[in-house]
Amino acid sequence: MKKDSLIVHAGRHPEQHQGAVNPPVYHVSTVTYPSVGDMRRAEAKPFDGMRYGRFGTPTSFAFEEAVAALEGGTRSISTASGLAAITGTLSALLSAGDHVLMTDSTYFPTRRFCDQHLKRWGVETTYYDPTLGSGIAALIRPNTKVVYVEAPGSLTFEMQDIPAIAAAAHAQGALVVMDNTWATPLFFQPFTKGVDVSIQAATKFIVGHSDAMLGVITCAEPELWKRIKSVIAAQGVCAGAEEVYLGLRGLRTLGVRLRQHQDNGLALARWLGQRPDVARVLHPALPDDPGHALWRRDFSGACGLFALELAPCPEAAVNAMLDGLRHFGLGYSWGGYESLIIPTAADICRTAVPWRAAGPTLRIHTGLEDPDDLIADLAAGFERLAKASA
Ligand SMILES: Cc1ncc(COP(=O)(O)O)c(C=O)c1O
Repeated sequence: MKKDSLIVHAGRHPEQHQGAVNPPVYHVSTVTYPSVGDMRRAEAKPFDGMRYGRFGTPTSFAFEEAVAALEGGTRSISTASGLAAITGTLSALLSAGDHVLMTDSTYFPTRRFCDQHLKRWGVETTYYDPTLGSGIAALIRPNTKVVYVEAPGSLTFEMQDIPAIAAAAHAQGALVVMDNTWATPLFFQPFTKGVDVSIQAATKFIVGHSDAMLGVITCAEPELWKRIKSVIAAQGVCAGAEEVYLGLRGLRTLGVRLRQHQDNGLALARWLGQRPDVARVLHPALPDDPGHALWRRDFSGACGLFALELAPCPEAAVNAMLDGLRHFGLGYSWGGYESLIIPTAADICRTAVPWRAAGPTLRIHTGLEDPDDLIADLAAGFERLAKASA
């Protein structure tokens, strides 16, 4: 089945729900059993079927089945948030004395989890240059259990050579975990590129409407699924009933939304790239982006999230620009139908390779508004910026 058909069909079983197109929302904590024998049989298979609300319901099973099919993995695990998916996966795959290689461009709370919690538990983290490619082999130690990738990088949008990194990791017995939220399974197929565990902050494009927190982990192998599922269950970070429903509902329109986010984002990125008050646009789908060749080779599309560096100007001028925008909300998220913009400070989140920008940096999530309206809004913002800089 092609991707757009899979988006429509995956995880749907109307025959199990009296013909309803979508599975109902199962609100469950307690599950009762007809007999002690049935209870014992359920205990023997702790993660199969509905045993207790925290371990999953037919709604979460449907969502997980759909995501696993789209990612191209064997099985998925839904979680309370994208961050719970990340921290649960790392907790499951790393133990005291282990070492993790973490991309320097990772989502900041992932870095904080490594520095504050993995460290406390005796796991060492080394941050690496995201553009290292096969050179990562030199950093892999006998105790390196996980190489973590995220492409493009949070805030800085560097591409990573994931097949080369995966080949080096696997040659030395390490697993590759990827945050695949930017591309979604629609634009990047992690398991054909050597990834072992793919994570989605489903809060973003899968939910797509800025109204639910949800994460999902997909594994290449059933054994990995079991390891991670048992930790997610132990941590108790299961996804809520309404949230998995909203995730499944959002998934059904992921294709059309994402392609529109892509087109709108590229329209903005190209327009911004021609402005004298913009020093650089960081968007891997632009032909002059340093990561463009890797993006073209491995990805089949781009979402509408990208960054830009302004020409040097005072902070107050940037604030004047942002404060007056009509279409862009000031919010720390992305993936919803509405446009967002934030000032960023990627330089303070780096330790392996310094990040230097010519001027202030911004991140834009391009929503589904008409791109002409978005461009007009930004143009007016640049006028305010110029006035406040004068
Ligand atoms: C790249 C990336 N991964 C993971 C997350 C975490 O997702 P959540 O907010 O659902 O915990 C975010 C959130 O902004 C993100 O940007």
